[in-house]
Order: sequence, then C-alpha cells, then structure tokens
Amino acid sequence: MPGAIHAEGLVKTFGDVRALDGVDLDVPQGTVLGLLGPNGAGKTTAVRILTTLLRPDSGRAEVAGLDVLTHPNEVRRSIGLSGQFAAVDEYLTGRENLRMVARLYQLPGAVARRRADELLERFNLADAADRIAKNYSGGMRRRLDLAAALVISPPVMFMDEPTTGLDPRNRQALWEVIKELVAGGTTLLLTTQYLEEADHLADSIAVVDHGRIIARGTSDELKRRSGGDVVEVIVRDAGRLEETRAVLARLGDGETGVDTHTRRLTVPAVGGAKLLVEVIRELDAAGIAIDDIGLRRPTLDDVFISLTGRAADDPDLAADPGAGARVPGTATTEEGPR
Ligand SMILES: Nc1ncnc2c1ncn2[C@@H]1O[C@H](COP(=O)(O)OP(=O)(O)OP(=O)(O)O)[C@@H](O)[C@H]1O
Ligand SMILES: [Mg+2]
Repeated sequence: MPGAIHAEGLVKTFGDVRALDGVDLDVPQGTVLGLLGPNGAGKTTAVRILTTLLRPDSGRAEVAGLDVLTHPNEVRRSIGLSGQFAAVDEYLTGRENLRMVARLYQLPGAVARRRADELLERFNLADAADRIAKNYSGGMRRRLDLAAALVISPPVMFMDEPTTGLDPRNRQALWEVIKELVAGGTTLLLTTQYLEEADHLADSIAVVDHGRIIARGTSDELKRRSGGDVVEVIVRDAGRLEETRAVLARLGDGETGVDTHTRRLTVPAVGGAKLLVEVIRELDAAGIAIDDIGLRRPTLDDVFISLTGRAADDPDLAADPGAGARVPGTATTEEGPR
C-alpha cells in the first residue's frame, strides 16, 4: 500500500532496557493510528525506527510500501516527521524557518513564500513571524516545528506528542489542521499520552507499555474495557463518605473508588448521564451535601488501571503489575499476562 504503515516484530534494546519488545503495527492508508502510552513506553523509539532514524535489533517495517531498512532514502522522501522535541533553527525567524524548509523540498521561491505565510497564519504565528525563534515560547516553537512538518503534504506523517505543551486553544487549532490533513488522504501515526487526544483524532489506538502493545481498538472499545464513563463525587463532609460509597456501590456499574484525603469517590457508569441523575437524587434524598459531582470520560489512567492494574504514571509498580493493583485483575490484555 503506497500510504500505509506496517511493522512486524520490532525489537529494540538499549543496554538492558527493552525499549521495544516485539511490536506489530498496521495503519491502513488514509487512517490515523494513535500510539498511546506513558513515559518510557517506547513510543519515540517506534517512531524513530519507522522514520529510518534508528535501526531495530530485529523485526521489519514498511512505510508507504517501502522497506525502512533497505530503502531508507526513499522512505524519507515519502514522510513528514514532527519529533517530540521541536527542531527549529533558533537563529532564524519563524518565517525564515518555514521558507528554508520549503526550499529544502525544492518548492519554487514564490510558492515557498506563500506556503510559509499560510502556515504562519494557521498556527497563530503571524504576529511573531519575524522574530527569531530563539525568543519563542515553548508552545510557539512546538507550533513552528509542526508547521515545518506540514510544508509539503507527504503521504505519511509521523507526529510524536504533537500537542504536548500547547495551550487548549492551540491544541484545538492543531487538531483541526490534523483532521484536514487526514481528510486529504494522509496516513498519520501520532503518539500521545492523552486518551482524549487519541479519541479526537485516531481511527484506532494501540496502547503501549514497556515496549509491548497491551491493547488495541477504537477509543470506544478501550473505554468500554475500562468500564465506560465515570461518576465522580466530592462530598462536603468526610463523615458521610461511607454512606455515599454505599449509594454509589448500589447504583453504579463497578468497583467504587474512595479517596478519603480529597473526599472524592468514583464509580464506573455504563449508563452515563442517567446514573449521574440517579446519584444526585439519592444523595439529595439522604441529605448528603456535595461540593462537586460530574460525569467524566475515562482517562488514560482509567484505561491503564483496568489493563495493567497500575496507574500510567506509577513506575514503581511497573516491574510487578500485580502488586498494588487498584482494581482487581479482571482485565484481559491482548497479549496475555507477561
Ligand atoms: N538512545 C537511548 N539510549 C538508551 N536508552 C534509551 C534511548 N532511547 C530510549 N531509551 C529508553 O527506551 C525506553 C523507551 O523510550 P522512548 O523514548 O521510546 O519512550 P516514550 O514512550 O517516547 O516516552 P516519553 O513519553 O517520555 O516520550 C525508555 O526506557 C528510554 O529510557
Ligand atoms: Mg517520546
């Protein structure tokens, strides 16, 4: 497939760290794969291999129908990459950076200038276009780097944590740009630590942890595995925590979580908003005052807890996923227990 990404059995070790431990990926042409995982999961390593910047110890990969190991130069001509750390020339202005990239791609001068101006506008950099990038904020550099990756529209794009460090407005703007890009037929692999982002952008999601894919599916499928939405309540009076817990246990669709310190309780809510209404009604009838209540969508952390029995940001438990599990180990992972 000219615009697809395909990888089989990728392994990469750094000393005794198995950064990738047998990763298979398939991204059909014109679709978006979200590679979702916590720090150190192996996301960047996978991107570097697929973009020919790193050789795997074993396994093979094709990008845009080309083998990354035997045809790296051809692969590079077919892809765009926005890395995790912005690669901009600090001593050029934003506009100069984009024009330089356009000229590297051999766009004629007038086209290069027009494209640079368009992108500066799209990424809210027009006002700062003639300042040197050295004085840009982190989010501005990030946007300039993303703009540079979009100077030409390659058939396959890789974006490594594209919105990390962006404020909500700029994140939203980037999501729109990405959606347009994909609507135009580009295949995209993006890495992220945010389920919400994968949710917005990805046709399918692969959850990676310790160099292995531990689950795949659409965002809805993954959320269902983590119990769907969550009702979250903060009670005013710590003395009523137990009563509240009993109400949630009776009405909710799974294990209740109680954090006495923050007076926060959670329960999975398969029924969504309907359950929220029932909980409010019961707590009101029982005269239990609440500071806050809401229905929230599961986060990466919820998905992670249900898949691995540990929080995504809990490296201490990494070596022994069973230890300290906050949720009973009922989840079945794609590749079975390790
Ligand atoms: N060049 C390297 N030398 C040694 N170890 C490395 C190297 N690159 C990556 N690693 C290790 O491989 C593992 C995976 O790293 P990788 O950068 O792929 O993670 P990541 O999922 O991108 O994490 P993050 O969310 O923090 O960007 C980590 O344990 C990391 O320390
Ligand atoms: Mg990374």
